[in-house]
Amino acid sequence: MLKVEKTSGRAQTLMEMEQKYSAHNYHPLPVVLERGKGVYVWDVDGKKYLDFLSAYSAVNQGHCHPKLVKTIQEQAGKLTLTSRAFYNAELGAFAKFLTAYFGYEKMLPMNTGAEAVETAIKICRKWGYEQKSIAENQAKIIVCSQNFHGRTSTIVSFSSDQGSKQGFGPFDGGFVTVPYNDLPALEKALADKNVAGFLVEPIQGEAGVFVPDEGYLRGAYNLCKQNNVLFIADEIQTGIARTGKLLACDHEGVRADMLILGKAISGGMLPVSAVLCDEHIMQVIHPGQHGSTFGGNPLACKVAITALEIVRDEKLAENANFIGDLFRAGLRKIQERHPIISGVRGKGLLNAITIADSPESETAWNICLALKEHGLLAKPTHGNIIRLAPPLIIRQAQIIEALNIIEKTLIYFNQLKL
Ligand SMILES: Cc1ncc(COP(=O)(O)O)c(C=O)c1O
Repeated sequence: MLKVEKTSGRAQTLMEMEQKYSAHNYHPLPVVLERGKGVYVWDVDGKKYLDFLSAYSAVNQGHCHPKLVKTIQEQAGKLTLTSRAFYNAELGAFAKFLTAYFGYEKMLPMNTGAEAVETAIKICRKWGYEQKSIAENQAKIIVCSQNFHGRTSTIVSFSSDQGSKQGFGPFDGGFVTVPYNDLPALEKALADKNVAGFLVEPIQGEAGVFVPDEGYLRGAYNLCKQNNVLFIADEIQTGIARTGKLLACDHEGVRADMLILGKAISGGMLPVSAVLCDEHIMQVIHPGQHGSTFGGNPLACKVAITALEIVRDEKLAENANFIGDLFRAGLRKIQERHPIISGVRGKGLLNAITIADSPESETAWNICLALKEHGLLAKPTHGNIIRLAPPLIIRQAQIIEALNIIEKTLIYFNQLKL
């Protein structure tokens, strides 16, 4: 393990307190953040970092965007939660805004990403029974290997990551796994008449930013149509301009039957998620069949509208596309000089570098520690892959700053290893 700069007494105390009283369900980098603005965050000792994780793509609009801060402050002093036992003054306007923004007829609001995935699963199954006449309890949903859709017990039932599921059985049935980016395998699985839906990430983010071949999403969508199966896009990580278009499916002109959104829909202010689809699908849900106390709360509604206005007004998709190209080109130049980088991949500002060492090694973790020392925060995913996903408001000068830090860190890291 790389020796890191000694953290201050305050940072140490805060980390120890968290470790003592909070479950060890994460393995954070040893940095304690207390403030953020735009693409930067500051730790408790005042050290400044470029944030290249963006809270797993939830902070696309940048930290504490002034318009979001204003919206949340204003609405927090007015009304925050009514539950859905009553109408609230904001939900209708949000539903109208969101459906128009993404081009669907209906939305169902929830809070976390996993809840929205659960919602899509429930709608899809019910649609299968009511619209496709699948026999009771026989509906199947096709999912992809190496998927990541969240952490609930149903969702981990169809995860191929043993770490996510071990010890959490018994698992839910009704899911069929096919390899990602494999249309013949999907076509074969779709032959089963009990299949109601195909749930897919347009780019597999958590698995390590795996971009499928061009044509995969379009091909998968067409196969779903041929078999009367719902194409369900989990755009919780890839959506809201992250990959250089509003939705990653837009790269192939695919309009999913069901669209799942979360994370950046609130610009990182509070948990907001939603499922969008047309009326002929959404109409399977009736009062009492699904919901959440906080889903559609007025605070979330107001914040989400502002967050999406920022994406549109500040042209974040265009910026992610432009800066993403510059970033990957810069990373590829660094790769030529540093063979420890074995690969560069991604789309827009959802990118990753692979490290030339085994996934079991600590090399990627140690590089992230060294990056932290040099002022850039990133985290390994699946051992030897480092995801690099800054807020989408990042400018050219800041991406050059980041590339300089990455190169400086690799030089330093190389010297350490000699
Ligand atoms: C594609 C995808 N789906 C679902 C989730 C789960 O979202 P949440 O952590 O808000 O439950 C994530 C989170 O990383 C994700 O990347």
